[in-house]
Amino acid sequence: MFCCLSACGNPAVPAISETERYPAGQGSVSTAPFPRFDLPLANLPQADKPLFYAGKALAHQPWITAPTITDARDGLGPLFNARTCLGCHVKGSKGFIPQDDKTALFSALVRVSIAGQHLKNGVVNEPVYGDQLQTQSTSLTHRFRNARSFTARSEAVKPEATIYLQWTAHTFTYPDQQQVELRAPKLDIRQLNYGPLHPQTKFSLRNAPAIHGMGLLEAIDQRDINALQDPDDKNGDAISGRINMVWDPVTQTTQPGRFGLKASRPNLQTTIAGAFANDIGISNPLFPSQPCTTSQMHCTLQVNGNNTDGFELPQDLLDLVVNFNRNLAVPKRSAEQYKNTQNGRALFYQTGCANCHTPRFVTPQSAALPHLSNQVIWPYSDLLLHDMGKALADNRPDFIASGSEWRTPPLWGNGLQQPMNGYQQLMHDGRAQSVEEAILWHGGEAQNTKQKFTELNKKERQQLIKFVESL
Ligand code: HEC
Ligand code: HEC
Repeated sequence: MFCCLSACGNPAVPAISETERYPAGQGSVSTAPFPRFDLPLANLPQADKPLFYAGKALAHQPWITAPTITDARDGLGPLFNARTCLGCHVKGSKGFIPQDDKTALFSALVRVSIAGQHLKNGVVNEPVYGDQLQTQSTSLTHRFRNARSFTARSEAVKPEATIYLQWTAHTFTYPDQQQVELRAPKLDIRQLNYGPLHPQTKFSLRNAPAIHGMGLLEAIDQRDINALQDPDDKNGDAISGRINMVWDPVTQTTQPGRFGLKASRPNLQTTIAGAFANDIGISNPLFPSQPCTTSQMHCTLQVNGNNTDGFELPQDLLDLVVNFNRNLAVPKRSAEQYKNTQNGRALFYQTGCANCHTPRFVTPQSAALPHLSNQVIWPYSDLLLHDMGKALADNRPDFIASGSEWRTPPLWGNGLQQPMNGYQQLMHDGRAQSVEEAILWHGGEAQNTKQKFTELNKKERQQLIKFVESL
């Protein structure tokens, strides 16, 4: 029997609002015809712009090896993944996942851990390699390891590993027989320079997510997020939504998580301080150690780039980068796309996407950040963890997030990655090359919604996809 979506107990479609064109409220910026995610919020006061650009310089210019004549920009490594923030968060957007098996990973990470829980790390680090495989080091020796003249420098710090991906494909067939090829990556870790990994190592491949609109996400009242969680699925929609509980080194307490792909960081300051320490090898007041484990003796013995206060990145410079991130804008939606995607918008609600990709929040008043206050924003995320099923699982718990839970990613700016970076790579490991592939990977709590999507006709599916790309 024919049963149209709205007659089958599907969620209601809220009336469209003109504010939907402005995802970051009054902070939304015009970027056409060249979209970018590295501009300041449109309502950032003029007087605050020099600080924004000073922070941007620190996020953009490469860090260098200590010692140098200036101690403001050195301290890279000894082990690291990239020299700059924007080297992974390309133009403020996502990183790049190599789509072949010959290009080594450079703007994504592989986290490693073993069984167990740790109050502050959320995981028990792999004993020799720590919590992340650093694929670069300050020594050039590894590049020349076959050249005889360099063998004398065997004491140099070697990168931990080189990481490649192997891709496996399967075909998904819609009820109307249309087919889509879905590819998934498998890790191929080579040149483990510090011996074998622990036999029970758990791995998590994570692409760098986009970092626009972060200050507005941070501004959302925790009570609004709490109101969306439904850990025991009391409303019976098969969608739970949980809050990760994570360590906050600033307050030295456990707090709700909000940032990172499994919401394992409580605020921007901790997220960014962690990125400096682990991704670039820059010690700072929140993460004072170098990225070396006790098994990596040459690493621990390297010259550091500490300033007089004992860190490679003092608090005031960390604050500048946090301030830069906090004030990154989100582009406006085009008037035309906003107008032409209304059928897709209705389907987005009716199939149940909006049950996790929460469209709208209003930020509370903040005396410290008036321009982030009282903004109607449209991020399309509940910032909660959802079990997304086996196919997406990394099987590596992170604080209380399980091996198959991921935080709902915001969808604002979704369609801009392709024009901005020349590729579209979605999901935590960049496996989906289009919104359609991303939806078809949804499982677990999103299984019913995916099912409804696959049962739409081809035209409706395209309408829904176009809507997501217009955000
Ligand atoms: C080697 C690549 C790489 C580098 C370099 C890097 N990041 Fe990231 N970034 C990531 C990955 C991967 C994640 C997701 C981490 C996770 O899930 O725990 C992330 C997460 C984030 C987030 C959270 C985004 C969200 O949606 O919750 C912010 C903010 C961020 N990074 C900012 C920075 C800043 C600022 C720097 C420079 C200090 C930086 N990153 C350096 C790869 C990188
Ligand atoms: C049960 C909650 C849930 C529902 C329902 C849901 N999603 Fe998602 N969505 C997620 C989570 C969690 C991820 C991240 C998964 C990952 O990274 O492996 C995600 C990822 C995505 C992505 C990739 C975003 C990116 O930046 O990588 C897109 C696009 C997307 N969803 C669109 C949709 C659409 C369209 C629908 C409705 C057809 C939908 N989702 C329904 C939770 C949900």
